[in-house]
Amino acid sequence: LQRMKPVTVVSSGAGDTGSDRPGDKVPTRFPQVVLFLLERKMGASRRAFLSQLGRKKGFQVEEVFSERVTHVICENNCSDEVRTWLHSQVGGRTSAQPLDISWFTESMRAGRPVEILDRHKVQEQQIDEAEVVAFSVPSYACLRRTTLDNHNPVLTDALSLLAENAELSDEDGRGVAFRRAAAVLKALPEPVTGVTQLRGLPCLGGHSLRVIRDILENGASSEVEFTKQSERFKALKVLTDIFGVGAKTAERWIRDGIHSLHQLQESGQTLNRAQQAGLEHYDDLKQPVTKAEADAIGEIVEEAVVSVLPGAQITLIGGFRRGKLTGHDVDFLITHPEEVLSLQGFLLYQKTTRNSYLEAKDGPARPASNMDRFERCFSIFKLADAEKRGTKQTENTPEDTCRLAAHSRWRAVRVDLVVSPISQFAFALLGWTGSKLFERELRRWAGHEKAMSLSSHALYDNKQGRYLKATSEEEIFTYLGLEYIPPSERNA
Ligand code: UTP
Ligand code: MN
Repeated sequence: LQRMKPVTVVSSGAGDTGSDRPGDKVPTRFPQVVLFLLERKMGASRRAFLSQLGRKKGFQVEEVFSERVTHVICENNCSDEVRTWLHSQVGGRTSAQPLDISWFTESMRAGRPVEILDRHKVQEQQIDEAEVVAFSVPSYACLRRTTLDNHNPVLTDALSLLAENAELSDEDGRGVAFRRAAAVLKALPEPVTGVTQLRGLPCLGGHSLRVIRDILENGASSEVEFTKQSERFKALKVLTDIFGVGAKTAERWIRDGIHSLHQLQESGQTLNRAQQAGLEHYDDLKQPVTKAEADAIGEIVEEAVVSVLPGAQITLIGGFRRGKLTGHDVDFLITHPEEVLSLQGFLLYQKTTRNSYLEAKDGPARPASNMDRFERCFSIFKLADAEKRGTKQTENTPEDTCRLAAHSRWRAVRVDLVVSPISQFAFALLGWTGSKLFERELRRWAGHEKAMSLSSHALYDNKQGRYLKATSEEEIFTYLGLEYIPPSERNA
């Protein structure tokens, strides 16, 4: 910009279309300076306001881009973007200079076009920031489609570990916050490369952002590394990995100086039946369950159920229904027109809980039979080796073969059996497919946005004061005003 002497010229023509009122003309003081404000990113209303301000200060501010324009004012645009835009205008016949909004505001303050310094030029360096995909994600996980194709596993593993640590430390609020943050990253279509990309994303609190920044900038988060190494976290993990041991019990044992399985065995602590079984089958239960094993158990369960209960339906639920290839257990939903289920001979351990919901007076279903009172059975299942059970299993890896040879004959697998009367089937199916966060978010959506209460038994409309019947998951999504999300996209 050449130093310019203010000249008073009464502006006319296209240049003053933005003038407030006819006759309210401010004389143009800088005839060699013709400004144009780029609306992209700045927004129409801010552009209109700034244009007005410029004219009041005696600048020529054009409404429409033309060859006359000498300065293009941009906000948050990168130079490439502006260059491309300029090229698309007036056939590229322009020598207008792209300038950052800071030049404009400083000039307004000075009441004259200030000298153009480097910092006023549209920064090349902004390319990084502006070119990155600005992600946009709805805040409820049940509004998002989250497949198993996670593009940010390092970040989500770190946040999940902090979530787990919080949950094991009786800090559920913090646990949920980390789970939500991890779930948002799982829904992103690409790997995150810089924190600037995360601007405007929901559920990312200061703490989660700090962890993400550490990993992006230093390759690791000191908090995550510290937690992983901490004796307390390691002990909590080992102990709660025992079937039947929750955070409270583990905490008590740790206070008694028990940090390992060996110390637990030596300690003479009384273990309940579940914990005894859990300890006995510890190594087996730590091994992930494969889809092939899940299918084999499914066949046995189905055969057993159908033999005593013709017409019963068995559905694979939990992670396997969402398309996971391995799991920590196998979950089945059994729905039945009538009663009695016997899997005697297959269950190494089992505990059933009642369907307390049926006791509710105004519930959607009366207990049709004794079977309805049995809602859930946590069990440890005795699964024969593939050769023994004679199923056509896919080939074992050398590692599997080695393990099977050493172990031989059978392995223990955690199996959860959920039973629901047919009237609650759709709710049970939706409620037990997961993921846990997806379920939590569905209930939060129902309660906060729809004044409804959703459980794995029913959907209650608080405004209408009645239960809403459904025979499919799709119907439940419709009641909730949600687009249907298939199980494979519920991996939040
Ligand atoms: P799981 O804990 O088995 O999770 O619970 P998962 O998604 O199948 O994962 P892995 O592969 O086994 O590790 C299955 C679903 O059952 C419901 C949740 O919706 C969960 O996603 N569930 C589980 C409950 O509602 N309550 C419980 O106490 C446990
Ligand atoms: Mn499961």
